[in-house]
Amino acid sequence: MQEEPQNPNPTQEAELVIRNSVEQATDPLTLKSVVSLGLVRSVELHLGIATVEISTPVSPDLYPDLGNLIQNIESALMRTSLVREVKTRVDAMAPGEQADYLKALGHLDRDDKKSPFPPSTRVIAISSGKGGVGKSSVSVNLALAIHKLGHTVGILDADIYGFSVSSMFSDIGDALVLANTVVPPRVHGISLISAGLFAGSDQPVIWRGPMLHSALSQFLNNVAWLDPEYLVVDMPPGTGDIALSIAEMLPEAEFYVVTTPQVAAEQVAQRSALAARQLKMPVRGVIENMSYFRGDDGKKYELFGKGGGEILAESLKVKLLGQIPLIPMIREGGDMGEPVVASNPESEAGKAFFDLAEQIVALGPARRRREALKIS
Ligand SMILES: Nc1ncnc2c1ncn2[C@@H]1O[C@H](COP(=O)(O)OP(=O)(O)O)[C@@H](O)[C@H]1O
Ligand SMILES: [Mg+2]
Repeated sequence: MQEEPQNPNPTQEAELVIRNSVEQATDPLTLKSVVSLGLVRSVELHLGIATVEISTPVSPDLYPDLGNLIQNIESALMRTSLVREVKTRVDAMAPGEQADYLKALGHLDRDDKKSPFPPSTRVIAISSGKGGVGKSSVSVNLALAIHKLGHTVGILDADIYGFSVSSMFSDIGDALVLANTVVPPRVHGISLISAGLFAGSDQPVIWRGPMLHSALSQFLNNVAWLDPEYLVVDMPPGTGDIALSIAEMLPEAEFYVVTTPQVAAEQVAQRSALAARQLKMPVRGVIENMSYFRGDDGKKYELFGKGGGEILAESLKVKLLGQIPLIPMIREGGDMGEPVVASNPESEAGKAFFDLAEQIVALGPARRRREALKIS
């Protein structure tokens, strides 16, 4: 008969197993380890029952997605053979613990830097010369598709007056507001900030007129974006102040121009591309939206003309990265209010967005034009 290997200190061993398993649990809001954020204060194991003390940086009923946070901790513990039952207690952090939580988000370290993002974040600005061409639709679907390809993604609605990104989803989680910092809510796994999230509250709308720049600055600097690999920016129409602010605050932004297929539309779109170039921002591609309608007979109908995207891409000397078909009106009920990449990823439009996302990912980061040329 084989002997079991002798364990020198079973209690210590058990502690290690418990600690390792709790560390595997992530917080659904920040996607960081619950231990690194200080969300788990202690775990005690007694006769197979693990008692977990959870502490949240705001009062527990205000912490977004607390149910899934608890669930993640429970299932991480239940994966060990030592635990047969988990009991949880939740209370609020003390002010000192709150400060540690904010610090662990990694957001406060950035104050003195030019961009609120590390060099590993690609900033994808979706622009066009005018409204109604589908910038917001392209932004949300592109963001969702890049996320589904396995990347961390944030989406910033920089259309401060004409915000629409938050209304394109039916079920957005809650934001965490802590001191001067907002941790964005998640929807389908991506983080989202839009003026629309705050418009319904009784807080005054502070971003009128000259406050536009400062609203955008708050959206960048007071938001813990948590270093996503991609930040998709839904730009306001035209070539106005926000483009200038974006160029100042996000010098790493890459611009993509949305147009419709009419030949006249492409000239309007070109203005936004030229404005970006004047600001020394790279324009990396053209996206044609509402390119065609696929009839029940399987044929393509080019309802809004053709060629606009190609002409624009040629004149800007960049690639036409995608032609998005018209998305048929969704019938009442069902998937109402969800972007097509979430509700119907296998559809022709869904696939067109995945193809677009793959191309943008494959392009890789833009070469920084502003960096001094080094010759070695
Ligand atoms: N490919 C598409 N197929 C069908 N409708 C679309 C498509 N793209 C955009 N739309 C619709 O056109 C309108 C304008 O789109 P939106 O994304 O808000 O444009 P923008 O942000 O440029 O103003 C919206 O009602 C949107 O649902
Ligand atoms: Mg829009």
